[in-house]
Amino acid sequence: MFDSQPLLHAQQLSRHYRVGQGWLKPKATVKALDGVSFKLWPQRTLAVVGESGCGKSTLARQLTLIEAPSAGALHLGGVDAAGAKGGSLAALRQQVQMVFQNPFASLNPRASIGATLEEALLINTSLSRAERTERVEALLAKVGLRSEHLRRYPHMFSGGQRQRIAIARAMMLNPRVVVADEPVSALDVSIQAQILNLFMDLQDEFKTAYVFISHNLSVVEHVADDVLVMYLGRAVEQGPKQSIFARPLHPYTQALMSATPALAASDRRTRIHLKGELPSPLSPPPGCAFHQRCPLARERCRQEAPLPRPLDGRLVACHEA
Ligand SMILES: Nc1ncnc2c1ncn2[C@@H]1O[C@H](COP(=O)(O)OP(=O)(O)OP(=O)(O)O)[C@@H](O)[C@H]1O
Ligand code: SF4
Ligand SMILES: [Mg+2]
Repeated sequence: MFDSQPLLHAQQLSRHYRVGQGWLKPKATVKALDGVSFKLWPQRTLAVVGESGCGKSTLARQLTLIEAPSAGALHLGGVDAAGAKGGSLAALRQQVQMVFQNPFASLNPRASIGATLEEALLINTSLSRAERTERVEALLAKVGLRSEHLRRYPHMFSGGQRQRIAIARAMMLNPRVVVADEPVSALDVSIQAQILNLFMDLQDEFKTAYVFISHNLSVVEHVADDVLVMYLGRAVEQGPKQSIFARPLHPYTQALMSATPALAASDRRTRIHLKGELPSPLSPPPGCAFHQRCPLARERCRQEAPLPRPLDGRLVACHEA
């Protein structure tokens, strides 16, 4: 069913930051991403979920080759992307494009939409002016905008239209992977479904694979094929959406689902409520990083970090699951 090789293959991918803690205090290490592994297959959508600060955007910056990981391996179409430099890094970057949360901040307010969309073609291709115009107009139509919009500037568009433009820009070089970091969370709820459907239509047409980051499990249920649940820089549960949504096995996944009204209303899952705050990533708890908030925590959880293990068709990092 699948190509034999994943488009993206992350193995123990980590990104640590050295941060100052103030006057005279030693520097500390934030393990923003701490050994995450997954495979992304062509034309599939991997959704990444987790609370604020769990490392989703850090993962996005590694996958789009904006930053180099501190450790671990990343292969794009079988090619080592983590170690790439110079011309080969530039070529790989074209294959992984990003859509950001805030389309106003991500579009240059002083450039017309036409100039914004044409830029990537100008820099990266040898297309003639007429060919560039043709490609820009074709993509603009695919995202539901018209050619007269090309002369206009970002402030003349609604949030939803701006996100359509950002999506067109991401698709301009026909990337193999698009990483979308909370692409609908800044939009009105009434617009969100339209933009999600646009993502799915474009995936059908261009065969793109998506890494779709969202803290909203209703959005994830709509778009994902596979799901990766993160907690403090690590994957706690990952696998096919169907099985995770039908029966989440990690207490943290169960808690996230209980906190989503549309999902929690169903009686198909265990009710678990999160207590306490997310611990500081500067001083994560020993053992299982979730143990202070976990209703199932036992002595072992306070001492020994659980490793992901195969369980019921997915990977789960929990001693008690
Ligand atoms: N450049 C950086 N330098 C230092 N710490 C960083 C840096 N980038 C991220 N962090 C820290 O890494 C952790 C993960 O941050 P990240 O932005 O990846 O989380 P997130 O899951 O995207 O959160 P949100 O849902 O709020 O967008 C946080 O504790 C954050 O403060
Ligand atoms: S390992 Fe222990 S603390 Fe961690 S999620 Fe499982 S039961 Fe809870
Ligand atoms: Mg983020």
